[in-house]
Amino acid sequence: MCGIFAYTGESRESGRLIVNGLRSLEYRGYDSWGVALKKNNGQIYLKKAVGKIGQAILPDTNSSIGFGHTRWATHGGVTEKNSHPHHDCQKKIFVVHNGIVENFAHIKNVLSKSGHHFISDTDTEIIAHLIEQKLKKQKSRSQAVLKTFNQITGMNALIVFFPDYEEFYAIKNGSPIVFGKNKKEKIIASDASAIIPYTKKVYFLEDNELLIVTGKEEKLIDKQNKNGTIRYLNLSYDKQDVEVGSYPNFMFKEISEQPKVLRDIINTQRGNLGKTSQIIRKARGSYLIGCGTAYYAAISGSYLFAKIAKRHIDATIGSEFGYLTDFLTEKSLVIALSQSGETIDTISGIKKAREKKAKIMAITNVLGSTLYRISDYRILLQAGPEKCVLATKSFTAKIAVLYLLSHCLNGSYDQGVNQIKKAIGETERLIKSTQIKELANRLKNSQHIYVLGRGVSYPTALESALKIKEVSYIHAEGFASGELKHGVIALIKKGTPVIVYNPTDETYKDTLSSAYEMKARGAYIIGIAEKNSPVFDEFIQVNDCQEAVIIPNVVVAQLLGYYLAVSKGYDPDKPRNLAKSVTVK
Ligand code: G6P
Repeated sequence: MCGIFAYTGESRESGRLIVNGLRSLEYRGYDSWGVALKKNNGQIYLKKAVGKIGQAILPDTNSSIGFGHTRWATHGGVTEKNSHPHHDCQKKIFVVHNGIVENFAHIKNVLSKSGHHFISDTDTEIIAHLIEQKLKKQKSRSQAVLKTFNQITGMNALIVFFPDYEEFYAIKNGSPIVFGKNKKEKIIASDASAIIPYTKKVYFLEDNELLIVTGKEEKLIDKQNKNGTIRYLNLSYDKQDVEVGSYPNFMFKEISEQPKVLRDIINTQRGNLGKTSQIIRKARGSYLIGCGTAYYAAISGSYLFAKIAKRHIDATIGSEFGYLTDFLTEKSLVIALSQSGETIDTISGIKKAREKKAKIMAITNVLGSTLYRISDYRILLQAGPEKCVLATKSFTAKIAVLYLLSHCLNGSYDQGVNQIKKAIGETERLIKSTQIKELANRLKNSQHIYVLGRGVSYPTALESALKIKEVSYIHAEGFASGELKHGVIALIKKGTPVIVYNPTDETYKDTLSSAYEMKARGAYIIGIAEKNSPVFDEFIQVNDCQEAVIIPNVVVAQLLGYYLAVSKGYDPDKPRNLAKSVTVK
């Protein structure tokens, strides 16, 4: 959460470039933003504002170095004074920060007694003052930054800017920091997608390394306080992949990209999935973990492995997994699902599993992410950057990978590929159809929408409800249709919309009965099925593709959520209070 972007280079418009960089990172948080530049006449320019960056344009500042931050508030309300960058008493040390300084109250108290004056309510501000305090005793800026970083507790990523020396110091022990350079300029950012307009060659900082960047050079001080080597990686996507292009927004772009992403998976992943499935075969006790949409992919995986591969693999929420690690052994396998590879609740669970010597397998979309680096085995989704806060293409990519892994274990890989091809066809048809848009117009004033499914369609119902509620702000709840009569039916009134996933599988008859029970209480039934039924008030056809039906079924809910949001005038890319990458607890 929070986006960081620092620039030094030949341009005299660093302000404009930093604002552009922050705009591309706004999916990480967009409560407020700020920029600190050193102008080429030596003066400092500091700008802070509440709200999204939108079309903000900075005045002509004639500057070639500076940095900025887009905030998702944790400590201190959403106000101008709490926006980053923060600075020391002398305005010589500026800091942008992502994370939580857990011991900030104590440090602030001590620094206040030493005469430091604080402007904001944030934890971040103490970092600038603590460096200032340390520099009173020792001259080395790098050692002052390192000692400060070692003194603060919690998971933090930060850049310190010394305008007088035109130097950046970047360090982290949680959230990502990425560095990239071309012949004319250097960038440090929270995400490689903000660097790709400049270069594809990037370096992902390791925890507790210090990166020092000036116009002339860059230097790495490793965890042992020795000179380290910057080892660059090549990004696998291009500049246009992080731009919205001719689409109205990123959400629709990413929904529309799903057929291509799925085709890429079936065309390129065979070898890797074959090998990886053998790791799963050999493990004694495997667990799928993830948060949000990734958790719903994990539950889907649990059903797929049970049904197709006849393997029992539990699914657990990332933030809960740490409480379940007592039974792990060195033979256990933890399969962590995470689009970003940075979700702190997933990473913390993984770290606990590591303590038990369990093996870790990452299924992630981000090369070089924390999860990618700390895992023993890796499957890269290669779905391209996902910028909309809502996960869409990363979900269906995960489903395709889990489905194909199950088929690998069952020795029926080609059968799996054939079903995914059918799922792609269904997805393409749904994206082109106008039916879901028209339905959204009719449902947009609903207060509640319920979604039900059984078997593999149960996690589909959960994910569908999440898609609808997080973007349209309509209360939506997914549940196993068998649970209907154990509570939820009490909420059904005349006209309550209920989405029923009713594929032609072993759940067909029972789910249909549930639909009738709700219809008898006045519900408006939206059936998503291969076959129409008199119980459906609205019928959205999704043709059979065995368990791969999860893919087009969830696409229906992605489109419904999208059109509901658009019809209500909401920004589908940045729903209120949500951030794409949750890197704080
Ligand atoms: C946030 C996002 C969700 C996402 C979840 C897990 O809550 O808003 O869309 O599903 O994090 O993210 P991950 O990157 O770990 O898949």
